[in-house]
Amino acid sequence: MVSSAALPVDIRPELGEGANLVAPERGRWQRAELVSALRGADALIAILRDRIDDELLAAAPNLKVVANVAVGYDNVDVEAASGRGIFVTNTPDVLTDATADLTFALLLAAARRLGEGERLVRSGTWGGWEPGQLLGQDVSGKTLGLIGLGRIGAAVAVRARGFGMRVLYTARSDAPRARELEASRVPLSELVSDADFVSLHCPLTPATRHIVDAAALRAMKPTAIVVNTARGPCVDEAALAEALARGEIAGAGLDVFEDEPAVHPALLASDRAVLAPHVGSATTTTRRRMAEMAARAVREALAGRVPSTAVNSEKVRV
Ligand code: DGY
Repeated sequence: MVSSAALPVDIRPELGEGANLVAPERGRWQRAELVSALRGADALIAILRDRIDDELLAAAPNLKVVANVAVGYDNVDVEAASGRGIFVTNTPDVLTDATADLTFALLLAAARRLGEGERLVRSGTWGGWEPGQLLGQDVSGKTLGLIGLGRIGAAVAVRARGFGMRVLYTARSDAPRARELEASRVPLSELVSDADFVSLHCPLTPATRHIVDAAALRAMKPTAIVVNTARGPCVDEAALAEALARGEIAGAGLDVFEDEPAVHPALLASDRAVLAPHVGSATTTTRRRMAEMAARAVREALAGRVPSTAVNSEKVRV
């Protein structure tokens, strides 16, 4: 079995005795190295930077499982894997709270202009308290619009209730936890125009690519703040940069980008954008749990069972 990247914990105990794990010592393998490591491999532990397409799968004829160390799996061609009888697994639940926490951290940082404040203090040019300095947006009692109310969206809604926020959400169907969370389902057009904060919690699919586009940004309040901890391409990054530059919205808190690790230059230049390097799930405990969960999926698949975290269990025969 192969891991495409060095993991932050030793997963051998989870893989079981005698597991022959081949992994880079540090960092991750480039594609050509991964292709060559995969020859003869029966399992792949992948990270979201790996593009797992049919060409790569074809190079690994013995592969039984691709265990993605992420809840999102838009980097994997699931249809191609299913066609080859390969399970694809992800790491749900274990990262929900960490990601929801980071969402709120970005929301608060953008609302209260903490990035600008930190840069000011570090610059050594701060002249002391002033009544009109770095005035931001209130969070308590405001309206939060969630694009997606799945596990992470719901965990963000739980936090929002602690801030006395009104919660709107948009989704294809009623979310099971909506009533308990007192979240109201509205069309996207209503959500973007009513919300003070718009936060994305949807997977990246053809339907959600650029779900926040120029038109959605234009419909937002000039005081609105966009938070994205889902996937970069869910937001039209160029349109967002332009909306910020023109003052059409007040700020953004971004953990993900359209073409990571590249970031639109206008976002890098924007004082009103708080930027993080895709660290939604980056806590020691969460990353350990994610790695262990991926290892468990490998173990299940290699034992001839359907992995409990398979996303294509209906399409693969054991
Ligand atoms: C995921 O799990 O999909 C995140 O983007 C990385 O933790």
